[in-house]
Order: sequence, then C-alpha cells, then structure tokens
Amino acid sequence: MAGTPLSRGFPWHLSNYRTMAAPTAERPVSMEEIAALAKRRGFIFQSSEIYGGIGGFWDYGPLGAVMKRNVKNAWWHDTVELRDDVVGFDSSIIMHPATWEASGHVAAFHDSMVDCRVCKHRFRYDHLKDTSRCPDCGSANSFTEPRNFNLMLKTSVGPMEDTSSLAYLRPETAQGIFVNFKNIYQTARKRPPFGVAQIGKAFRNEITPGNFTFRVREFEQAELEYFVPDDGHDMEAFHEWVERRKAWYANYGIKPERLRFYELKPEERPHYAKAGVDVEYLFPWGWGELESIAHRGTYDLEAHMRASGKDLRFFDEATKRRETPLLIESSAGIDRTMLTFLVDAYEREMSTDPNGKETERTVLRLHPKIAPVQAAVFSLARNKPELVGRAQAIERALRPHFRAQYDEGNIGQLYRRQDEIGTPFCITVDYETLENGSVTVRERDTMRQERIAENHLLQYLEERT
Ligand code: GAP
Repeated sequence: MAGTPLSRGFPWHLSNYRTMAAPTAERPVSMEEIAALAKRRGFIFQSSEIYGGIGGFWDYGPLGAVMKRNVKNAWWHDTVELRDDVVGFDSSIIMHPATWEASGHVAAFHDSMVDCRVCKHRFRYDHLKDTSRCPDCGSANSFTEPRNFNLMLKTSVGPMEDTSSLAYLRPETAQGIFVNFKNIYQTARKRPPFGVAQIGKAFRNEITPGNFTFRVREFEQAELEYFVPDDGHDMEAFHEWVERRKAWYANYGIKPERLRFYELKPEERPHYAKAGVDVEYLFPWGWGELESIAHRGTYDLEAHMRASGKDLRFFDEATKRRETPLLIESSAGIDRTMLTFLVDAYEREMSTDPNGKETERTVLRLHPKIAPVQAAVFSLARNKPELVGRAQAIERALRPHFRAQYDEGNIGQLYRRQDEIGTPFCITVDYETLENGSVTVRERDTMRQERIAENHLLQYLEERT
C-alpha cells in the first residue's frame, strides 16, 4: 500500500523544553530512506558490495549487529528464559537429506516462476498482477509457461561432488527440532505440553528477493515448536501463543495500527493445519508477513517416524499409551522483525532550536531494549582534558550496565547522530559538572533536558530503560 503515512507529528505543546518541536505534515517513509539511513549509520550493508553485491544477501554493520542481537535476545528472553515449559535448542544448518524428503520440502517447497522472453527478466508467477504483459519491458504475451522452482539451496558434503554428496541448506530451522524430538524431551525431562525454541539461519533461493531485507536468500528465524497432548486443549494452546506474540510486539512498542493478526481461512492453510494466523506489518509497500503461527497437528513428527522408522512418540501418563503430540508453531523472521523495528521507529520532524531556527531531525524511536546504544556520553568540549576525562569515566562506569558510547564534538551534531541511531539518552558533561557533579541528560523522544546528579545516573537510566 504505497503512500502510507509513517511519520507522526511531534507534541509541540511541551514549550518548557529547551528544544521545541513543531508538528510536521504526515509524510510517507520510503524503503529507500530506511535503506539509506541503515547504510549511512552502519546498520545494514549490501553483501559483497565492492564486487557489485549479490542479490538477496545483506551484512549487518556495527550498529545493526548489536540491534539484531537485541531483537534475538528479546525474543529468547521472553520465549525461553521467562518460561519453565520451553527449552532452547541449536541444530545444524545442514541435515541428512532424508530430512527434507520426509518433510515434503524436496517434493513441494517450490514457487512457480515465469520468464519474459523479450527482456529475460524472471518473476514469481503469484506476484504478477497481470500475466499478459511484462511489468519491466511492457511486452505483451511474452511470458514462458509457469514452471516450478524448488527454493532449497543445494551444496555438497565431502570431497566428491555427486548425487550421493548432495545436501541442502535448511529452509527452516524447525526440522532440526522435529528429528531431535525424542532426544530433547528425554534429556530435558519434559512431557507435552512443552516447547522447544531455536534461533538460527535459514536459506531459501527466492526467485525475486527484494524490499531491502524483507525477502532475502539467507535469513534468521526464531521458531518455537510447542508440543501439546491430544487431550482437547490444543486450540487453547494455539490461541495462547497468538496472544503471547501479540503481547511481545506490543511490549517492544510496535504501533498497533500497523500490525495485524490475519486468521488464515481453511483454503489458505496446508491441508493438515487446523488453524493458522499470519502476523503482518504495514510496510511502505503494503502488508508483509513477519511471522506465521500454525497448528500443525501431528504432521511433522509422523512424517519423520514414517521415513526413519524411529518412534518419536512420548509416553502419556493420562492415557497410559505412547502418543504423538500435536504441534503449535510460531515462526518469526528475525531480519523482518528488525526491519519492522526500523520502519516503525523512523520519524522525521521539524524542530525549533532556542534561537528560533527550524531544523529537520530524523529520529528512530526504538525501544530502549532494542536500541543499539542506550546511553551516549559527551564532553562539551573536546579540547578540555578535565571534561573529556570526566565524561569518559562516566561512560566506563555505565558500560557494565548499559550499552554506552562516548563521543565528543558539536553537541547539536552529536544529538542528531544519536537521534538517527535511536539512542534514548544522551548525557553531557560540562563545566557545571566539574563544579557540582551534575550532568545534562537529554531524552530522545521529547528532547527534554534535565540536570541529574552524576551519582544518580545509574538509577535514572535503570528506571527508564
Ligand atoms: N517453520 C515454518 C516456516 O518456516 P514460513 O512462513 O515459511 O514458516 C516463517 O517462514 C518466517 O520466516 C516468515 O514469516 C518470515 O518472517 C521468515 N522468512 C521466510 N522466508 C523469508 C525470506 N525469504 N526472507 C526473510 N525472511 C523470511
């Protein structure tokens, strides 16, 4: 949906603030703007850029690597660490190829594609709005017949490159959990209902990667496979996970009006799935899927039991029988979630400085747990050793508790830089600090500044992050 207003006005009635902001007309943000900021500030770079890049692969820069880790930590903390019914897991990217035969990926994990005979461009058939005319060169009736294209990336294992060494880079992390189900429940001493969580790389040879890091060929997934006994409470478990995921996005500040939980109709779900909800975010180009939550029944475990001949059932104390549990899956893309945080947090607004000069600022209103830097410490002047030394000492003292950074230079420019990377608090050391031990703390969203005693800084930041 082009032209979605993604910039909000600023509450300009806060006239007692040193810097006062005036509201701006709502203005849509483009993916180009997000990508430009991501590159300029070191969040995301094109992979192998010096060689012209490679389609569908991206690198996370110094700030991006930290932010992505924060997104993963936020998911892991809430999904695993805060729960006693979920255990963690970390399986290999390359698995026995029989895994992908059994799971159905070899036979059915494909997209339909067509080529334009004139301009040679390739398209996903289901992405074409009009199949009679090429959207790139405008030629009419130039498409080849649609044909299936398997999305799994292939490699070979061992010194011989023949069919016996063929292996796949996993297109989802979940299968590592399914094939290990018995190992996991035995060693973790769990019985359904319980969950297994994993964050890891997945690969898909997408026909048309695009929309920055939204559709890529190498990405990370955060998957939660929750196993429940077949005792009539499975739909409750499904709805509980949907609610938990709603709460997760809300906790980290994603704007509710740009998030929707789309309930899949029976004809939109795989035949074995009893229920499905797609979590979607309103990106500059329209709604895009961030996560899928699905009730997958016994499909996955039964497929592996059939193919391997191994028993993956558990002993159910209630029925006194070996049972195959039902599966509720929540599968989120980390790269898409991070992109969502960037788009959702991005705002441009006019602000008026104390001299009445109008300037535009770009600000990322990231949640403090997601922001790559939580507190930036500045020295008012870079050529005053007593100020620099004091500021650096404060930054070092904050470092064990917060993601802190020291910088020096023109304070206005420093604020601008920290606004753009989403730093919630900036702390400035000036001559008053030397006299009475107070520092200026400037809050990102309101631009409000207040003086805080240096020895109260830790508590001040703890309360606000
Ligand atoms: N195990 C279930 C599963 O993999 P999926 O809907 O195919 O389900 C789950 O993928 C999530 O993985 C998606 O919602 C998306 O966030 C992420 N994802 C899938 N393909 C992706 C791609 N090409 N680029 C980035 N993220 C992708």
